[in-house]
Amino acid sequence: MCGIIGYVGAKNATPILFDSLKRLEYRGYDSYGFATLDGEKIWVRKSKGKVSEAGFEKLPGSVGIAHTRWATHGKVTKANAHPHLDCTKRIAVIHNGIIENFEKLKSDLVKKGHVFRSDTDSEIIAHLIEDSIELGLPEAVMRTMKILKGRSAVLVIKNDFDGIVAARNGSPLILGVGRDEYFIASDVPAFLNRTKDVMYLDDGEMVVLERDRKPVFRNIGTGTRIEKRIIKIDWDAKHAEKGNYRHFMIKEIMEQKETIIRAINQNDGEIKKVAAAINKAYGVFLIGCGTAGNVCHTGEYIFSSIAKKHVNHVVASEFPGYRDFLTKKTLLIMVSQSGETADVLEAVRVAREKGAKVISLVNVRGSTLHRMSDFTFHINAGPEKAVASTKATTAQLAILYLLAYACAGRIEEGKRLLLEVASKINDMLNPRYDERIRALACSMQRKKNIYIIGRSLNYPMAMESAIKIMEVSYIHAHGFAGGEMKHGPIALIEKNTPCIVLTGDGSDQDTVNNAMEIKARGGYIIGVGPKKYEVFDFWLKTPDVGLASPMVNIIPVQLLAYHLGDLRGCDIDTPRNLAKSVTVK
Ligand code: AGP
Repeated sequence: MCGIIGYVGAKNATPILFDSLKRLEYRGYDSYGFATLDGEKIWVRKSKGKVSEAGFEKLPGSVGIAHTRWATHGKVTKANAHPHLDCTKRIAVIHNGIIENFEKLKSDLVKKGHVFRSDTDSEIIAHLIEDSIELGLPEAVMRTMKILKGRSAVLVIKNDFDGIVAARNGSPLILGVGRDEYFIASDVPAFLNRTKDVMYLDDGEMVVLERDRKPVFRNIGTGTRIEKRIIKIDWDAKHAEKGNYRHFMIKEIMEQKETIIRAINQNDGEIKKVAAAINKAYGVFLIGCGTAGNVCHTGEYIFSSIAKKHVNHVVASEFPGYRDFLTKKTLLIMVSQSGETADVLEAVRVAREKGAKVISLVNVRGSTLHRMSDFTFHINAGPEKAVASTKATTAQLAILYLLAYACAGRIEEGKRLLLEVASKINDMLNPRYDERIRALACSMQRKKNIYIIGRSLNYPMAMESAIKIMEVSYIHAHGFAGGEMKHGPIALIEKNTPCIVLTGDGSDQDTVNNAMEIKARGGYIIGVGPKKYEVFDFWLKTPDVGLASPMVNIIPVQLLAYHLGDLRGCDIDTPRNLAKSVTVK
């Protein structure tokens, strides 16, 4: 969940590390820190809170590592911020991941006389390296990585080693190759403004980066050297910037004018091939977490209504419970924006044990999920920086629709529908529509609870609406299947409780009846859909796109969540307690 960056080059490392940390802040933002190497001295600075240059002097040295944290072990304190040092203060380490056997390792190290300065699991890495440093830094890192259980990406510097040793097992690391300089980070946007030439590390690999030398990649288990090639990233650095927008979230919502077209621009042959594999498979699972999990849940209805095909959606963290149903004929469709979500990767590992096949929908090229999959559809949404997922959601949905239509042998019909959706979303995202939603947000900003209902394809979107509202505005929100309200949740409705009602998917009559039941108890009904029903107190019109209704209905809710967050002064792009990539289980 944390963001890590390292630099080896000819320039002063501190400004470069600062700039990269800012770009990585979406991965975690409760504290941060740096270590640079100047001659034989290691300089360390740490701070609580978000990355800020205020009060930070430029540290000497053109080799350095930096970290922005999302706490797992140990509170948010300066002492727990990375980098962590060994007892001699000659070794500095930053770490992204979680060490499952840290308690035992720590107690062994304490018995040996090591002195700890933090409550983190990560600090043990510095002490383990110290324990075997007579082997030399690369060997000591290799030995340490073999001992650690869990998921780790590690960057290490030492006072007498002119470079960085980096290793990964479970958490991402990507090397950026510049002219006479190297960048090593947990994600490409960290250095995209400096180089587009990258080399990927796979799990169980490490790289030694020394000034004026070629990077040396090695397998951690065997120590053997590995040859890697440079891959050119086709993302434009400006796509990872805010431009004229105040927040990434609103920029990314607006980008949906183009991203759906980009998503469906897939190779027909590949779509048909994957559709044939879906039709042939014995047991198809759609798997993701959070918003991507809601996309998968929608996918269950999409495949059922369009392809008449039963697929099962499962949230990734629950998937290991299904392992007994898996065989070589099982097909997994993994949906993940980042391609780094730990629960998603664990689900793939479980499926692999049983020989199941894995298809993925991923936004980040070269991500771990992309590299673990038998086949990947790139959703081509461009970098999504706001923690709240928006443009990735509609792009993922678009590809699921395309696949379902291809399964039914009607791919052209699917494409026509999606092109119509893209053009209608383009029309929707106009300033007047946005203003109307802001006015609604103004009237709702002090509400304590918001409920959302939908049926069929819009039921998962009701839950997705709740995620969006909660994470961006911190207002409690809950999505329900329309028919479930009367089985309990309707007890929560009081005078003027806002309830968003998603319609337009073919089940309107029943949904409207449920809205009436809520209204009869005092609820304030905000209708979303193509048709204005009498029960609506406020109507957010969306175009009539039939079965693709979830794709258009989620747009006004994304805008509503954004404006609620903005009006309430929330930290929209980096909401409290969250991180963009959840790389812990
Ligand atoms: C999105 O708004 C959420 N912040 C979160 O639920 C996210 O969708 C989830 O963590 C999955 O991430 P992924 O798509 O990168 O796997």
